[in-house]
Amino acid sequence: MISAIGAVASNGMLGLAGWLPWDIPEELAYFEKTVAGAALVIGRLTYESMDVVPPDSFIVSRQHDLAMRPGCTCVASVEEGLRAALATGKPVFVIGGAAIYAAAWPYCHRFYLTRIEQAFSGDTLFPAGIPLDQWVIHAETIKVFRERQSGQDVTCRFLQYRQAGVRPLLALDCNSNSECSE
Ligand SMILES: NC(=O)c1ccc[n+]([C@@H]2O[C@H](COP(=O)([O-])OP(=O)(O)OC[C@H]3O[C@@H](n4cnc5c(N)ncnc54)[C@H](OP(=O)(O)O)[C@@H]3O)[C@@H](O)[C@H]2O)c1
Repeated sequence: MISAIGAVASNGMLGLAGWLPWDIPEELAYFEKTVAGAALVIGRLTYESMDVVPPDSFIVSRQHDLAMRPGCTCVASVEEGLRAALATGKPVFVIGGAAIYAAAWPYCHRFYLTRIEQAFSGDTLFPAGIPLDQWVIHAETIKVFRERQSGQDVTCRFLQYRQAGVRPLLALDCNSNSECSE
């Protein structure tokens, strides 16, 4: 089972200056609780923004000489990260950012997406190409929390989407189809 998890504002923003556009502790706590004990697949920029990175985290980067924190492994592609994460035997979560969601969504069975029903300024958009409108909403919970920068209440819709036609993960990265197996 591969899942993705993230949060997005009503105007599609998900990031600002290397962090989140909002300050909603309860939403962050939901994220931390949901991914606790999982193996994580993380984009390099998101990884660098995190204070604490749990063990069995796989950091996607095109750089070959990245120094990693203990328990973290650098991988060259989302597919390599997903395979390595699955090999831990733990549940697997793709935790972003935008570039990693865009590459990983075809392999994801579920997307835990919090829709924050307010526009926020930002510099990173949720990828437009993820066809969540074609996924099935499996669960939905609506809560209102105080956003700490504005002091305003915001509605958060905690959605769980399920994807039916998940792309199989190839066993090996290769250029020749004859050497690949599903
Ligand atoms: N709202 C949310 O739920 C949420 C969740 C996560 C992150 N965020 C926010 O999103 C922003 C970061 O997102 P982002 O899209 O800019 O960065 P990102 O996805 O975290 O990381 C991008 C980096 O990942 C590597 N990468 C991306 N695609 C790759 C591929 N196909 N193959 C190999 N490596 C690849 C590259 O690293 P190299 O440059 O090292 O090659 C690239 O620079 C931050 O503001 C963060 O706080 C928000």
